[in-house]
Amino acid sequence: MSKNDPDALIVSTPQAHSYLVNKRAFADPPLFARELQEIYGKLWLYVGHDTEIPNPGDFVTRTVAGRPMLYVRGTDGVARVYLNTCTHNGAKVCREEFGNRKHFPCAYHGWVFDCDGRAVEVPGEAAFGPQFDKADQGMIPPPSQASYRGFTFVSFAKRDDLVDYLAGAAQYLDILCQTSAAGMRVLPGSHLYATRANWKMLPVNVIDGNHFMPTHVTYLQYLRERGSEMKEPIRDFHEAHLGNGHTVFEYEAPWGRPQGKPDPAWSDAVNGQILARREELLARLGPELGDRIARRNRNLVIFPNLIINDIMGTTIRVAEPISVDYMEVTAWQFCPADDPPELARVRNEQFLTFLGPGGFATPDDIEGMEASQRGFACYREAPWVNYSKGIAAELAGGFTRPGESDFMMRAFFKAWQEYLGIDRFAEAS
Ligand code: FES
Ligand code: FE
Repeated sequence: MSKNDPDALIVSTPQAHSYLVNKRAFADPPLFARELQEIYGKLWLYVGHDTEIPNPGDFVTRTVAGRPMLYVRGTDGVARVYLNTCTHNGAKVCREEFGNRKHFPCAYHGWVFDCDGRAVEVPGEAAFGPQFDKADQGMIPPPSQASYRGFTFVSFAKRDDLVDYLAGAAQYLDILCQTSAAGMRVLPGSHLYATRANWKMLPVNVIDGNHFMPTHVTYLQYLRERGSEMKEPIRDFHEAHLGNGHTVFEYEAPWGRPQGKPDPAWSDAVNGQILARREELLARLGPELGDRIARRNRNLVIFPNLIINDIMGTTIRVAEPISVDYMEVTAWQFCPADDPPELARVRNEQFLTFLGPGGFATPDDIEGMEASQRGFACYREAPWVNYSKGIAAELAGGFTRPGESDFMMRAFFKAWQEYLGIDRFAEAS
């Protein structure tokens, strides 16, 4: 396809050092409908982590690809996901965000389900006649569900290949989950905020190393003022396409990491605990992996919409597409299960200061995403987003540095194109 083809969504001409994505990808309602069908309707989507529901009857409710979901631990100790819709007249059964319940009564006509998904009470049951058996009326699971390292995914298509789908990203979940010998957990509570931008802007913002310096200059200034060590801002940098559209970039940054890198801005007592964590990591995992976990940051995107930023705090983020130009984002903090209180306080402060909805990064990132979305309205007259940075260096076998490459955006959109079957869509539209 060429730039002059009105149906072209992606024009990749490496010999001309050019990779262009049509802004329609972010702004065209029929294309958004296609994404809901081919991507959100078929791929594995994150629903929650099993440490959120440690005990039988513990539950959380989520919305995944527009569907209300109930993630609940059964009396047998197994965590399961159900479509949160009554098998009678379809009402959303559980309306609470989280809690512990043995029974979930539906408010509409009083059917009751238990935490194993069974229908246990049906008012007026006899009137349904002798053929009716409430054993057939249990809550319905999504077509597929599976977990890796406690990260639970569902798919609205029949699949049994979560590990294959995660591909190289599984190794990064392994690394993350080895941060603490006591295990990792999702801290109770979440952040929910909305962004007036297409859902893809969230993963693309995370893998876009080019925006860091201009967009987050205020945070760097704050780090300097609080006394953090400011050498070259981003160093020891590595980026990779992990397969199936998943990407990671890994680097050392000026900030400390409660995971194992002290910061001059923190108290001696806290830095002592962090150094003890570092020593424990080196002893348990060896000098290479131990140092990597302690010192380096990892921004991981699991296609399409799961983001794990393991930086000065660790956040799990999910983008829920609402319309072509609007998404809701939910974020949780992921942390060692054995933090001493003082370290937990510093970790929480780190998390909120940069990653919180009112922190130094998130509002600035949202502004960047929303400004882009406003500009995408010009897609008919000014159609192209330019993701060409770094192609010349890549072709020359060269090394790209942070801020000098759109490599991961190209990997993301290549996968997006394949999942959507762009050529077929162009013919259909
Ligand atoms: Fe749930 Fe009728 S819709 S009991
Ligand atoms: Fe950012």
